[in-house]
Parts: sequence; C-alpha cells; structure tokens
Amino acid sequence: MKVIIGSDHGGYGLKEKLKEYLASKGIDLEDMGTNSEESCDYPDYAAKAAKKVQETGNTGILVCGTGIGMSMAANKFKGIRAALCYDEYTARMAREHNDANILCLGERTTKDEDAKKIVDVFLATDSSKEERHKRRVNKISDIGLDS
Ligand code: RB5
Repeated sequence: MKVIIGSDHGGYGLKEKLKEYLASKGIDLEDMGTNSEESCDYPDYAAKAAKKVQETGNTGILVCGTGIGMSMAANKFKGIRAALCYDEYTARMAREHNDANILCLGERTTKDEDAKKIVDVFLATDSSKEERHKRRVNKISDIGLDS
C-alpha cells in the first residue's frame, strides 16, 4: 500500500506529523506538497493529490485548516470520493459505506493524536461488499454524466 499525502499551509504541520507516523509503521508515502508553512492555495494541492490517486488507485490523505476546502476540491475529480472525517466512526463509515479513497483532515479542528487514530482506522477498513452500499457508491459515480 502506498499513501498519497498533501496539504496546504494550514495543514502542513499535521501532514508532516502524519508522514513521520506512517513512515514509522513502514507505510510507503508520496508527498504532493506543500513543503512549508508559506501561504498557498489548497485547491492546487488537492488537485495534485487527486490526480495521483486517480492514476495509481492508491489511497490519499489531504490536510488543510478544516479539511473542508480539500474535500470540496478533491471531489471535483472523477472517481474521487474524498471524505472529511473527524473521529474513528466517521473514518470507518467513510470506507465501509462510501468507499472513500481520500481522507480529509483539519489541522485546526482535529488533535494530532486523534488524527493518527482516524488515519489508522481509514487505512485498515475495507469497503463493504454489500450490494446496497456498492449500488449507492455507483450512483455517486454516475452523477455528473448527465447533469
Ligand atoms: C487556510 O487559511 C484555510 O482556509 C484552509 O487551510 C482550509 O481550511 C480551507 O478549507
């Protein structure tokens, strides 16, 4: 498993901590930036990471101040299901019920230790194989084809 990770300046500190945490667990990472606390635009990094997740099929993690802007921007990309999670329950549901492929986190809204637990659950949980969940996720994919 490889994790594609990215942030803006508002999520840079948590991104760096999560990189260290995931590397300590032997998880392979690709960092799409940003690389400092200098002010930047979150859609640029959401786009880089979302395109990489589209190309590779890997799982993504995006961090901004609240996680809101990152999720809005990443969800513009076909096949991307980015979920803003704020506890272990939402992380598990995002994977099981929604087959989310990008986890969004807010550095200003989520404590570091909670973020690590959320990441652990998100990466360890498989999507549900139940028909009703697959049907609903497919309906998400179909939205936009004729709208
Ligand atoms: C940056 O100040 C902040 O707006 C950004 O990190 C994010 O929270 C946007 O959703």
